[in-house]
Amino acid sequence: MKITIGTTYDAQMILVTEGQKINSVDSILSSLKTKELFSGKENEIFEVPSVTDEKTYVFIGMGKEEKVNEESLRLSAFKAAKALSRLKIKEASISLPKFPSMCYKASTKAFIEGLYHAEYGYDVYLSKKNTFSLEEVSLILLEGKEHKITPVIKEIDCVMNGVFLARDLINEPSITMTAEKLADEAKKELTSLQVEVQILEKKDCEELGMQAFLAVNKGSTNKPQGIIMRYGGGGDEAPIGLVGKGVTFDTGGYSIKPGPSMMTMHGDMGGAGAVIGAMKAIALNKLEKNVVAVILATDNVISGDAYVPGDIVGSMGGKSIEIHSTDAEGRLTLADAVYYAIKNEGVKEVVDVATLTGACVVALAEFHTGAFTNDDELLAKVERASKEAGEPMWRLPLSKDHHDMIKGDRSDLKNTGGRWGGASTAAAFIESFVGDTPWVHLDIAGTSDLEKARGYLPKGATGAPVKTLYYYVKGEKKGKC
Ligand code: BES
Ligand code: MN
Ligand code: ZN
Repeated sequence: MKITIGTTYDAQMILVTEGQKINSVDSILSSLKTKELFSGKENEIFEVPSVTDEKTYVFIGMGKEEKVNEESLRLSAFKAAKALSRLKIKEASISLPKFPSMCYKASTKAFIEGLYHAEYGYDVYLSKKNTFSLEEVSLILLEGKEHKITPVIKEIDCVMNGVFLARDLINEPSITMTAEKLADEAKKELTSLQVEVQILEKKDCEELGMQAFLAVNKGSTNKPQGIIMRYGGGGDEAPIGLVGKGVTFDTGGYSIKPGPSMMTMHGDMGGAGAVIGAMKAIALNKLEKNVVAVILATDNVISGDAYVPGDIVGSMGGKSIEIHSTDAEGRLTLADAVYYAIKNEGVKEVVDVATLTGACVVALAEFHTGAFTNDDELLAKVERASKEAGEPMWRLPLSKDHHDMIKGDRSDLKNTGGRWGGASTAAAFIESFVGDTPWVHLDIAGTSDLEKARGYLPKGATGAPVKTLYYYVKGEKKGKC
């Protein structure tokens, strides 16, 4: 879909707040109101399609004007675009007003994002492809705003490009999305955008001492891959580190998962998908920052070679780990990944993203990403970005008590901490490899992949938290908008 500025089409989306019209299609609107067909309530949509050559209207209820926010605008735009597509409309226009609660740029940006969301559908393996008819939406802006909004359209286009890439990577089944394929995709998507992509083969990982990561790969016939992505838009500054869990399929290993829990485990590289998507958004938008992203990718499967409970394995950081569950594999890969990012890439701060624990989903459902940190200031930056992105997160505790729960008897650490506080003990495990570097851990086990569509998010991969990572790397916008 193309977003343009300034063309009025016969098909129009009309934003209507409760009790007050925003655009003037007075006669139709007032008759809709008299007939109690449309009142402008939040999320209400009313279509007046043209069957002849008349205009098509999609009225979009916005609720109370003072309550309109970014999230309601995203959803409204999404619904309106879907409605127009259902009506087989190719081109439509929308007049965008200023809302009292938001600056013009923020509301316009949210609306544009919602339009893009409507376009996505995963149909790679469907004989009958999804159809989305809307090809162009033209924005009628307040006077004099064009120069301000033009770059916003470009920015959101690039960000959504990253979101859709993440979704595609994550939705791809594990039969094709092996570690090697993930590495190839990273190269294919990023190399042309001035991102250096270096692959660590198994022997490189061995030489680096990534024993925890390699333990997870032991049972597999697929090669492990370290995927290192370096983007340098920021001069001499030490880079920001992004780390993504890249388990391309999680059977649980010998601590095998019951069938139903295994069903969606092709999505266990959700963190990796998000990090690759974020790198694409960052590079497309040419952010003036240095970023290094690290993914240690493998599947977690069984064979005569696989690691088993009771094994004690080493790690790049030097700590020994007793395996209490081969299903707590993500933290093993992340331990080496964060350690490598800090020691070998010299990142000044690191954010890891991982579909790490069922416990996090039990606590927060599919609505919030779980956030953990050793540095309140860094978390504040990530939380600000999460608000800008509309990707909610919630801080969960991480304390010495959680570290006590994962102390080993015959090893330095064990890879599970017992039944309680599973999201926090997993975070404590990663923290054991971080040292003093500011670090945030995002557990996206609930938010990465949805059981059913919700709002403007599709069933399956959501692409969360690509937008959060992007806005975090971009940093807080200076001055007013
Ligand atoms: N990949 C899973 C976590 C997960 C669960 C992601 C549900 C998405 C949806 C992870 O590797 C895992 O198996 N975690 C275990 C940890 C336990 C063995 C300590 C879990 O959460 O049960
Ligand atoms: Mn697991
Ligand atoms: Zn896993």
